[in-house]
Amino acid sequence: MIRKINYLRLSITDRCNLRCFYCIPGGGWEKLPCQEILRYEEMLRLARVAVAQGIRKIRVTGGEPLVRRGVVEFIQSLHQVRGLQEVCLTTNGVLLAEMAPALHAAGLRHLNLSLDTMKRQRYQELTGSDNFLEVVAGLEKAASLGFNPIKINCVVLKDLNDDELWDFVRLARERPFQVRFIEFMPAVSQGKWARHFLPMAEVRRRLASLGAGEPVAPESVAGPARIFRFPGFRGELGFISSVSEHQCPACNRLRLTAAGSLRPCLFGAAELDVKGPLRQGATDQALGEIFQEAVRRKEAARDTFLPGRAMVSIGG
Ligand code: 5AD
Ligand code: SF4
Repeated sequence: MIRKINYLRLSITDRCNLRCFYCIPGGGWEKLPCQEILRYEEMLRLARVAVAQGIRKIRVTGGEPLVRRGVVEFIQSLHQVRGLQEVCLTTNGVLLAEMAPALHAAGLRHLNLSLDTMKRQRYQELTGSDNFLEVVAGLEKAASLGFNPIKINCVVLKDLNDDELWDFVRLARERPFQVRFIEFMPAVSQGKWARHFLPMAEVRRRLASLGAGEPVAPESVAGPARIFRFPGFRGELGFISSVSEHQCPACNRLRLTAAGSLRPCLFGAAELDVKGPLRQGATDQALGEIFQEAVRRKEAARDTFLPGRAMVSIGG
């Protein structure tokens, strides 16, 4: 099967200012020593190499990317990489209100915001921090500055936030945001997952009175999300069933971890070291070959059901 691998998720840090229920393992996670994390100039070089290999879209993720110093300048430099068509940022929004103007000035327009509840108390329970109001302020700031699209990622958790599905639908109706319901992946513990997993089919069933909606044609760099428009909505709704439906054939992405490894698949254990060769003086061509190898490995990548290590250190 021929497919275009044109989307790179670039994790710029394994640190985070939140402790989300579904992301942080009970015992915490092993944080990388600074020198093990790619420097910005190393990431920029790899971004150019990736573009030469067909990457057209780069999403900056973490951990939480906005906690890394220099991220605004880095994002500005990414916008100058020739041939790259799209730069996006995934953030938890805690620092967004203060950083949105600088990010906007750096050229950024595409934003994904993680928000799993509209309730302050519950937000604290799910993330371990009382930052709900900051996140909402960040969202409003980004909207007022004209970030577009703004996508809101809501991980649906049975008995924890699944009573808020209609509140998220209302958000997409009233505001020009793409609200995306996401299946809970078994990243931290099987027990938690078994208790709180809600299949996307059940989400759709509970929202059945919305009608079928009009599918939004996927962009060439879109991933496996299913996006719909509904009459009278200013925004859109997306349904991402990464657990119940294996959408491997539609997957167009690679991941580069903050430690400088390429992961062909979130669910595959394989990682290819890029940092080592990079620091040992490999040519662009040799680095490009590692990207090609990662693309080849995608073909049969999904070898387990678990991401294999903490999401916070892979970048979701
Ligand atoms: N299941 C689903 N999504 C997750 N994320 C992190 N951990 C999980 C998980 N266990 C995703 C969320 C969040 C992004 C940063 O990572 O979508 O918005
Ligand atoms: Fe939450 Fe994202 Fe931080 Fe994980 S990386 S704890 S999902 S904010």
